[in-house]
Amino acid sequence: MHVITPSCTLRDWIPGDAVSLAWHANNPRIAAMMRNAFPSPYTLEDAHRFIGMATRPSPNLFLAIDVNGEAVGGIGIHPLDDVKRRSAEIGYWLSESLWGKGIVTDSVRFLVPIAFERYDIVRLQAGIFSNNPVSMRVLEKCGFTREAVLRDAITKNGALLDEVMYVHFRK
Ligand SMILES: CC(C)(COP(=O)(O)OP(=O)(O)OC[C@H]1O[C@@H](n2cnc3c(N)ncnc32)[C@H](O)[C@@H]1OP(=O)(O)O)[C@@H](O)C(=O)NCCC(=O)NCCS
Repeated sequence: MHVITPSCTLRDWIPGDAVSLAWHANNPRIAAMMRNAFPSPYTLEDAHRFIGMATRPSPNLFLAIDVNGEAVGGIGIHPLDDVKRRSAEIGYWLSESLWGKGIVTDSVRFLVPIAFERYDIVRLQAGIFSNNPVSMRVLEKCGFTREAVLRDAITKNGALLDEVMYVHFRK
């Protein structure tokens, strides 16, 4: 897949992204906002493992956020299953060196219609840690609404946090 947005390109991961992935992802300020599956520290071995997973066929969609030919972040769609099979989650992160330039807003804005086209879903959702107003703002700018607060749902880095559920319904 190759999606051109005003500030970045969303494209498939390639093995040659490993060094830049490990470089940009190795940041505790990013990991603090992600699930624990996101390694911290983020080593070159972790990068190879992730790219191996992201390039194997699976129901998930994993795309690199590419700026000037370099993979500087990631965005993905994870369809849920069983009784939640008509919902999917969206997740993303970006190198701290590029925060605040509208890159993830562009990425989410362009990926939402693709997610609804690709999957038979009616809900695209994201559970944001309550200490992450920047991510909430990104989703609000992309037409998501704040649906619910799941109190004390998250334990991250030793702290108990609320999870704020954002959702975008199929139009
Ligand atoms: C969250 C993250 C993806 C945002 O990416 P980004 O490209 O910097 O975001 P954008 O520049 O598109 O938009 C950021 C918005 O938040 C706003 N913002 C910045 N600091 C803010 C704050 N403290 N409170 C509220 N809004 C804030 C910005 O002003 C901007 O909104 P605006 O365009 O209305 O001014 C990035 O910071 C990141 O990777 N963080 C760590 C990982 C993470 O949080 N992933 C998401 C897990 S749910």
